[in-house]
Amino acid sequence: MRAVLVLHGPNLNLLGTREPEVYGSMTLAEIDARLAEAGREWGVEVRSYQSNSEGALIDALHEAREWAAGVVFNPGGYTHTSVALRDAVAAIGIPVVEVHLSNVYAREAFRHTSLLSAVCAGKITGFGWRSYLLGLQALVEMLAI
Ligand code: DQA
Repeated sequence: MRAVLVLHGPNLNLLGTREPEVYGSMTLAEIDARLAEAGREWGVEVRSYQSNSEGALIDALHEAREWAAGVVFNPGGYTHTSVALRDAVAAIGIPVVEVHLSNVYAREAFRHTSLLSAVCAGKITGFGWRSYLLGLQALVEMLAI
């Protein structure tokens, strides 16, 4: 069975209690469980990982090259700041789908810029936890798993 990585960036470990009016009330564990379930239905193994550290996210992307067919990635606040994460996405040679729970374009101007979008296969923003589900579906379909 092919495998994909679902990668969560900083502060997403606090989902459920973090600004629920913006990010919804589901916890990260609940989201990961839904994605694993969808993966089973679609014939793909879903492995999830969260880190608050930029370096650990870069390491996870590098390691994904060895075992994953693609990545669903919510880079959190690093979306708007991290050249290093952009370079990692560009370097690994497997498709990465950028996802955001909130509609970043309906929020502060600094969230309208993503340093990662141009090197990602595509981007889904604004559908709450379902952004991840839609991102996973897009990845599975583009990989024809
Ligand atoms: C986010 C949007 C980012 O601007 C923010 O810094 C986050 C979460 C989202 O999923 O909506 O941490 O990536």
